[in-house]
Amino acid sequence: MQKATARAHPNIAFIKYWGNCDDDLRLPSNPSLSMNLAGAHTETTVEWIDGLTADDLEINGQPATEDASQRVSAHLDRIRKRLGIDVHAHVASENNFPMGAGIASSAAAFAALTVAAVAAAGETLTERELTTIARMGSGSASRSVPTGFVEWFAADTHEESYAQSFAGPDHWNLCDVIAVISREHKKTVSQAGHRTAMTSDLQPARVAGAQARFDICRQALVERDFATLATVVEEDSNLMHAVMMTSRPPLFYWLPGSLTVMQLVPEWRQQGLNVCYTLDAGPNVHCICTADAADEVRSRLQALSEVVDVRMTTPGGPAEVTR
Ligand code: PMV
Repeated sequence: MQKATARAHPNIAFIKYWGNCDDDLRLPSNPSLSMNLAGAHTETTVEWIDGLTADDLEINGQPATEDASQRVSAHLDRIRKRLGIDVHAHVASENNFPMGAGIASSAAAFAALTVAAVAAAGETLTERELTTIARMGSGSASRSVPTGFVEWFAADTHEESYAQSFAGPDHWNLCDVIAVISREHKKTVSQAGHRTAMTSDLQPARVAGAQARFDICRQALVERDFATLATVVEEDSNLMHAVMMTSRPPLFYWLPGSLTVMQLVPEWRQQGLNVCYTLDAGPNVHCICTADAADEVRSRLQALSEVVDVRMTTPGGPAEVTR
């Protein structure tokens, strides 16, 4: 086979990845844990073409920027090396969610690219190895390869820092109700942020406690214990943002509207709604809630003037070859 298409979902981290021990291999400083997001996906077709002199990339039907093309080509280099092939590829990628929907696209993009590129070459690799390859394109992409609720291990070697599912999407009908505060593209891409994480005096403390938070969060998910989940998810997000804000140079991703939602969500929880917040490298607030609370959370968010849009997603499946 010379051509294959794969589809992958983005994910939202409950325990965050921020900072690497090894930037080139993207070996993370701490383990992390996430939920794939159904509904949103990236679908990528890779065609290895003999005689092509360079890779070319189109995104949503348009030629990609130089930066995006270079990043994809560097990832294809890794795959060429692993598979022992020397052919360039035409890559076409489509997102079914718009930019500015509050969902980062790189995790789904590199998961789909990895799975499609390997399948197009007619190779079958284990899911574990696919997660390690996807990781080198974008760390969080490792977590978009397996299904449902996924853990990604921090380790000293490429082979040991892999991701795996610990519960399927049907395990717990949680919702991610995303409060979009700004549709603007983020100014500092996470790749650059990971590099400065260690300049914060707070990063060693965040990393030191990460395994304990990971264990608490994983168990809360396995036991469907929302109260425990809520506390650890909010704390972990706040710790990551504290590191970002105290890095050199500092990174401020929150906007005033982000803070408005972050102050309201714990109040709503006290009133009996099963909801907590978490923010990635951007101002949009992911409100994680149980399915019975989702409609109420959505309408409360829609009533806020700072919230420009609200999107709902549920737990998603794995990266898969579709054609
Ligand atoms: O995979 P990257 O390099 O885009 O980093 C993702 C970082 C966060 O989204 C902020 C946290 C996470 O674990 O997803």
